[in-house]
This record gives sequence, structure tokens and C-alpha cells, in this order.
Amino acid sequence: MNIKICISLLIAVAGLSAHADKVESLLAQMTLEEKIGQLTLLSSKWEITGPVAGKSYVDEVRSGQCGNIFNVPKAEYVRQLQKTAVEETRLGIPLLFGYDVIHGYKTIFPIPLGLASSWDMDAVERSARIAAVEAAASGITWTFAPMVDIARDPRWGRIAEGTGEDTYLSCEVAKANVRGFQGNDLSDPFTVAACMKHFAAYGAAQAGRDYHTVDMSERMLRDTYLPPFKAALDAGCVSVMTSFNEFNGVPASGNPFLLKTILRDEWKFDGVVVTDYNSINEMIAHGSAADQADAAVQALAAGVDMDMMSSAYLKQLKRLLAEGRVTIEQIDRSVRNVLRLKEKLGLFDNPYRYCDEQRERNLHCAAPHLKASREIAGKSMVLLKNEKNLLPMKTGKRIAVIGPLAKAQKDLLGTWCARGDKEMVTSVLDALIQVNGSNRVEFSEGCGVTNNDITGFAGAVAVARKSDLVVMVLGETAGMSGEAASRTSINLPGVQTELLREIKKTGKPIVLVLLNGRPLALEQEAGMADAILEAWHPGTEGGKAAADVLFGKINPSGKLPVTFPRNLGQVPIHYNMKNTGRPLAPAADKPKFQSRYIDSPNDPLYPFGFGLSYTDFQYSEITLSKSEIKPDETLTASVTVSNTGKIDGEEVVQMYIRDLVGSVTRPVKELKGFNKIFLKAGESQTVTFSIGEKELTFLRRDMTWGVEPGYFDLFIGTNSRDVQSSSFSIH
Ligand code: BGC
Repeated sequence: MNIKICISLLIAVAGLSAHADKVESLLAQMTLEEKIGQLTLLSSKWEITGPVAGKSYVDEVRSGQCGNIFNVPKAEYVRQLQKTAVEETRLGIPLLFGYDVIHGYKTIFPIPLGLASSWDMDAVERSARIAAVEAAASGITWTFAPMVDIARDPRWGRIAEGTGEDTYLSCEVAKANVRGFQGNDLSDPFTVAACMKHFAAYGAAQAGRDYHTVDMSERMLRDTYLPPFKAALDAGCVSVMTSFNEFNGVPASGNPFLLKTILRDEWKFDGVVVTDYNSINEMIAHGSAADQADAAVQALAAGVDMDMMSSAYLKQLKRLLAEGRVTIEQIDRSVRNVLRLKEKLGLFDNPYRYCDEQRERNLHCAAPHLKASREIAGKSMVLLKNEKNLLPMKTGKRIAVIGPLAKAQKDLLGTWCARGDKEMVTSVLDALIQVNGSNRVEFSEGCGVTNNDITGFAGAVAVARKSDLVVMVLGETAGMSGEAASRTSINLPGVQTELLREIKKTGKPIVLVLLNGRPLALEQEAGMADAILEAWHPGTEGGKAAADVLFGKINPSGKLPVTFPRNLGQVPIHYNMKNTGRPLAPAADKPKFQSRYIDSPNDPLYPFGFGLSYTDFQYSEITLSKSEIKPDETLTASVTVSNTGKIDGEEVVQMYIRDLVGSVTRPVKELKGFNKIFLKAGESQTVTFSIGEKELTFLRRDMTWGVEPGYFDLFIGTNSRDVQSSSFSIH
């Protein structure tokens, strides 16, 4: 070993042990009450994100009962509270400040489902980095993000907060988010600690009703729902939040199988486990704990370090220890985890390193941040339809802008928009006026988002008649997705579809811009609109980004991270389903006794991975380096993609595999790679994917991971449906 390496190793070891020393020496001095305080997380009154309201908690901080706080969104207040903790408590242990920084802090980016639609991991990472920089300036040390829950039911409002239906894409997005939030050094005052959530299987709430029961096999859990957590963990994520649901009959916050067997023992996770809001108390309503004391015993035993808003540890642990129902080792283990996180964040060196009013003023909504928000919003939009190349629009035409969301500002920010400021948002209407001139844009609301009032229809029709082209801005309000916002219908709410039908009768070309937080059933709308742009809730600069796309300043490149069904009856529907024993034969003339509906096709309206561009991409056939490999070998698959249209554009080249025969059945397609490439008009590029153990491993019949010999189909294409195919084998 050379001398340099030796010295840096010594420094690293010395650093580590200094950290450990600090934590151990504090632990040795702490009273039981002080320890319990470190395991307590309370919400300030500034913002309410759960059913139990918070308060200022200054007294609790001063008395050491509350060692961590969330929902304090300003540097000034963070500093005051931190001062109380550091200067007025016996040991001066600084507080952690948590907040839901989900898709931006002041500068808001598209909702996570929109960010995932970009399939651009640099963009995702950049958005998380900017969110961290802005939040850290306000004193936030810990974000409750990323949410990595797989979600396959569009009724579930929280589908907006995640990455959609696919495990592979979700893993990539999870890693990019953790890199963005945490950077390389947690003590850097421009980063925040990440918290992957909600562990686990929360996205599988029955019937899409939030907080509802989850009942799934361990195989499904491990194969589909857990990998994004593992990916976030491997990327260095330092904390995890439990989920509200039960798994296998046991609420997640007291579930030793999830929190101990998988998280701590198998994955060796040594960070902080925090509960979701009040979820220790909720074990009583679940029917798995008799009272708060019982719930606290179960949570601590399962390995929950920090209690968010139940105050169950605060109220019960002292007595429980005296009664011998919990041990001091359990308490110390959790305190250690919490103190270690504070140490990693550099809070013992300087407890005020994250709150800086000057930085708040300079960095919140700084020009480069807004620029990134606009650019990334543009990347997140998905062009679903573009009949006769209606888009991009040319300036100078008379445009009728119609619909209840055309003037929206707050609704562009979407769910969990932290300190996003609706006053900073340019509506889609104003953005179109900025490009096309106010004398060539006329607006009519037509109807509301949710009510059934049709009195505005006539005015909207009159405005449409005078125009060359209609842009309709329809969808859902921001509050219609996110937490506790499940729907039993995934149609456009209210009378918006009827409004579209009336406008259609004018014969004018219609561009439909959608603002929404979940996949919608758009069969009727797709039959009427000539072009459809899925803009999600696109954030602070989203209105301008929509105009950028509509007028062709940006060539759309987003792809759906989740299937858009034809109707709610098809749900759950996702591209990576199993084949069944009676799959629907594509051209069967008498499809009786096949797995299908008698009143709807099986296939969705828009498949996973789908999204159009203003240019055309052609795919060559697939070239394989080998068609047969050994289980430990790798092959490569290449396609040449050509931009055969007239303008430059980006394309997401997607690679899927199918394992034809396995010890357990495998999905008909599984995404195993993608590459977003930029091609100038007329340009071609060869894209190569490597396929080996990482791509082919799966949870075999004996519940171990591995590759099984046999035959595989391989698909490469522009979405999960339109692909080139080839095959290979492993022997
Ligand atoms: C949500 C979490 C969130 C927490 C704190 C809960 O209601 O489920 O995702 O992080 O509140 O605001």
C-alpha cells in the first residue's frame, strides 16, 4: 500500500471514530427522557400534513421532549428553534428539521409522475438538487422524499407522487433523486438527507382507496414493490419512512418482517426508520394493538427509531421500560441511529449551517432554478396524439383558449408543492398570449373543473367559432390527486368532456392540454381532440413550458411511466402483466374462453412508454452480438435509430425482455434498459444494450434471485407496444 493511501485511510478511520465517539459520548451522558426526546418528531403549526394538528413546540424543545421537528419552512423560525435546542437544553443536541420537499421547495418542478415521464435521469437529479439547495437554505435538513411506491391503480391519488407502474424505471428515478438530494457529502449545507417512503407496498391499497388494506404475496412484494427501495438504499439513502398500510395483516409501523427481516437483516440498513404521521397510534384502529403502549412496544421492537406525531414513545417508553416491556438496548439502538444522522449532517459542528436568510433570498426561485423548472417541465410533457401534425402551432393564428384550467396558477403546482408560490406561476393562457399576442388569443372558461354547470358552454362555443384553432385546457385540480385524494372515476371530472363535445361541433381543430395527477380514461376525448398534450401538473414554469411545446420551441420527448387505460374497468392494467393460460390470440375470430372482456378490448388506450414527437424515428432491426450465452455471460443488442423527420428531437429507446419459461411465470415484457438520445434531423445513432445477469435475474420458485437457462424474447422500441423483436437463449 502506498503512503498516500495509508494516510487517507488513517484519516478516514479517524474521522469515523471521531463520529462514533461523539455519538457514544453523548449517549453515555443522556438521561432516559433525553433519549426519548431524540426519538420524537413533531409537526410545527406552520403546515398541517396529517390528522393531528401541530403547535409551536418551543416548550417541548426546551424541555428536551422533542428532538426533531418538521413543517417549519423558514430559516428565521428554524434558527429560533435550533437556538432553543442548542442553547437551552442540557446537552445542546441540535434538532433535525424535516419537510416534504417532493418536487421542489420554492421553485416547483413537475409532480413526480411528470418527472418520471421525462425518462431523463439527469433532469430528475437536477430537480432534486435544486430542491435541496433551496430547502437547505431555509434550514431544512431532511426531506421526506423520494416516494418510491410502485402504483398501478390510477384511482389512488398518490400515484401522482411516484414513478408509476414499472420497477426498473422507478429504481432509476429513485437513485437519481437520492443523488440529487444528498449529493456526495451530507454535511454539505447545500444538500439534505433523503427519506425513501413508504415502506412498504403502500401503492397497492385495495381499490385505490388511500390508506386501505394491502394484501399481496411476498413474491410480488420482493419482485415488484421492494426493488426501488433497495435501489435508493444502494444510492446511499439514509432514512426510510414506514407506510400506513398493513402487510400480511400487520401494520407496517410494527411489522418486524418488513422492518427487521428485510430492511435491517437482509439489506443491512443502518439509517433512521421514521414512522409516517401518527401511524403508531393508528395501529389501534387497525386492530393490531390494544392501546398506545402496546403499539409503542410493537413499533420499537420492529425497529422504528422515530415516532412521527403519535407521541407514543414520548408518553409510553419510560413506563414501558420500567415494566420491562421494552429494553434500554432497543432505545439506545434507535437513539444512536438518530444521533448518527445528525452527525452526518454536520449539525454537531455547526447546528445553523442549513439556515441562512441571505441564501434564502438569493437562491429561492433563482433565475437558473426557474430556467431548469421550465426546461424540465418541457421534458416531462407527453404528446399523446397529433393528427395531421396539428402541432406545433404557428404563431399569428387566432387561438381560442377554452377550459377551466386555462387560467389556473395553483393547479400547475400540483400536490405537495412545499413553499411553491402560485403568484409566480404563468398560466397556460398567459403563456400563450405572451407568444401569440393578446389580440390573437381569446379566452372562455366554458365550465368549472368539477361542477355540472353548463351555462358557460354557449360563450365558449362563440369564442371557438371566431378562431382558427382551439386550445382546451382541461383536467383535474391539484387537490384531486396526492394524499387522501382517491377517485372512483378516472374520467375528466364535471362536464369537461361535454364541453369538448360542444366545441367539437364547431369543426375547429382542437388541441387538448391536460393538467392532471393520474392516468385518465380518455377514450372519448381522444375521439374528439386532434392533438393531446399530457402536461401533468408541471410546476412553477409549467405554463410557459406548455407554450414552448405547443409552439414547437421544445420538441416533446416525454413517455408515459404508467399505462393509460381505456376505461376504469381494465384496472389494474400495466404492460408487464402475465400471459395467463388463455391469452387473447391477436386475430382470434371466436375469442370465447380467452382471457378478455366482452365489452372492452384488453389493450390500453396509451401503453406504457408511449409518447410522440414532432419528428419521426425509425428503428432498424436488432443486431445481437450472440444469440446464445452461458448464465454468467453477457450479450449486446443494438439498434440504429434514425431521425427521419425534419426537426431535431429526443427519443427514449426502450429495451424489454421476456423470459419464456421459468420456474415461476414471468411477465410478457419487462423493461430492462432505456437510453434517451438526441438526434438532429436526418441523423442516426446506434444504441447498444448489454444483457446479462443484472437484466435477467429474477425471484425464482425457491425465492432466491438468479438467472435460469432457457429462451428469451428481446424487444427494443419506442414504447412497450411498438417494438422490434429478436430472441436469444442461455445454456
Ligand atoms: C404522508 C407522508 C408525509 C408525512 C409528513 C403523511 O401524511 O403520508 O408522505 O411525509 O405526512 O408530512
